[in-house]
Amino acid sequence: MTDPKKLFLKTYGCQMNVYDSERMAEAMAVEGYVLTEVAEDADLVLLNTCHIREKASEKLYSDLGRLRPLKAAKPGMKIGVAGCVAQAEGAEIKRRMPLVDLVVGSQAYHRLPAMVRGIGSMVDTDFPVEDKFDLLPTRTGSRGPVAFLTVQEGCDKFCAFCVVPYTRGAEVSRPVARILDEARGLVSKGVRDITLLGQNVNAYHGSGPGEDWTLARLLRELAQIDGLARLRYTTSHPNDMHDDLIAAHGDLSELMPYLHLPVQSGSDRILRAMNRKHTVAQYLETVARIKEARPDILLSSDFIVGFPGETDQDFEDTLALIREVGFGAAYSFKYSPRPGTPAAEKAEVASATADARLQRLQALITSQQRAAQESMVGRVVSVLYEKAGRMPDQMVGKSDHLQAVHVTDKAGRVGELVQVRILASSSNSLAGERISA
Ligand code: SAH
Ligand code: SF4
Ligand code: F3S
Repeated sequence: MTDPKKLFLKTYGCQMNVYDSERMAEAMAVEGYVLTEVAEDADLVLLNTCHIREKASEKLYSDLGRLRPLKAAKPGMKIGVAGCVAQAEGAEIKRRMPLVDLVVGSQAYHRLPAMVRGIGSMVDTDFPVEDKFDLLPTRTGSRGPVAFLTVQEGCDKFCAFCVVPYTRGAEVSRPVARILDEARGLVSKGVRDITLLGQNVNAYHGSGPGEDWTLARLLRELAQIDGLARLRYTTSHPNDMHDDLIAAHGDLSELMPYLHLPVQSGSDRILRAMNRKHTVAQYLETVARIKEARPDILLSSDFIVGFPGETDQDFEDTLALIREVGFGAAYSFKYSPRPGTPAAEKAEVASATADARLQRLQALITSQQRAAQESMVGRVVSVLYEKAGRMPDQMVGKSDHLQAVHVTDKAGRVGELVQVRILASSSNSLAGERISA
């Protein structure tokens, strides 16, 4: 028997890329490729890229530069670029970096095996009408207890700063039956916690029995699957938090009390310039309704500082919103102009000003995150074990609120859902002891 071919796969960017990478690895496994952690050993190197900010895109070119001597030493090595930079730049990547053999855009992954075999065009950035997931092999890999499942892709919102509508295309929802099949398959392999993914996941409207299904209806159906203990979904747009979804947070015990709801800014003027199509008051009202349905919910968000035209007062308004809502976590970014987006035409805020604002915002978020974590000390929480800890008799997992928990447990097994008394909180995690089976 010949040695299997080796695939080195590097994933940048969001959870959707993590999901796509898994699907690509499974498609290449059918072709006889096994994953390797060592780029030098690889017959195929795949970089699954992100285009969201300038720094993310630049990483591709610096990583490709580092692959040059590896490919020189191993002439059979093939290099492929996938993901959102592939979608945005297409053949330009091969012109700039001739060592790249193939460029596969975010909607063409079902074509990857043929491309690697050398069949057809080596650049594919089409948005085909067929569902790439239908044409990829069903999910077979062995896995841990936690999984992502893409239910919706693309975005029609066109926020003024964002490349996603261009790199992922128009908003498309997968059919209900496919999602249910995939979820059942994952659960049969031991998955107990599924996060539904979409760039605008709460805009989900997939075809199912009867009529179009909303995300709320899909969640209710998924919650019926035996053995599936936890459901989450991300990322949501505030304007798509409809009544039925908020109600699901109140009465679906499988739906975890954690919600990522990006707001970007706390200034109405900036929200308008960003084309977010909601005001601060509307966001706060949505948050109030969610908290009414599920009082213990932990909210997280995304913020952009230094959007063109942002004044000191606009920034203070963002801090005020953060103080008012109280977040359990948040991701914050300095605005990065992206080619082709409307905001890229506007005059930028001075870089040092944006840096200073980012620091202040992050300090506020960190203090809120700490407070949320510390409030768990003394409480009993559910933890799903994901792996053994570094210490003896220790397991690591996540709470319902998506906080990392280190648990003292002599007999813990990956995939167990246990009750844990929280004893301490450190900067990024909680520590506790198991109190039940
Ligand atoms: N679909 C999600 C998020 C997509 S990108 C949503 O609608 O919220 C993830 C985050 O990256 C965004 O929420 C935003 O905060 C940030 N982001 C997007 N474009 C950016 C840019 N040009 N500069 C800085 N941050 C950006
Ligand atoms: Fe980008 Fe806005 Fe769409 Fe989110 S909603 S993916 S930020 S355009
Ligand atoms: Fe990046 Fe594409 Fe995700 S641009 S954030 S990898 S959708």
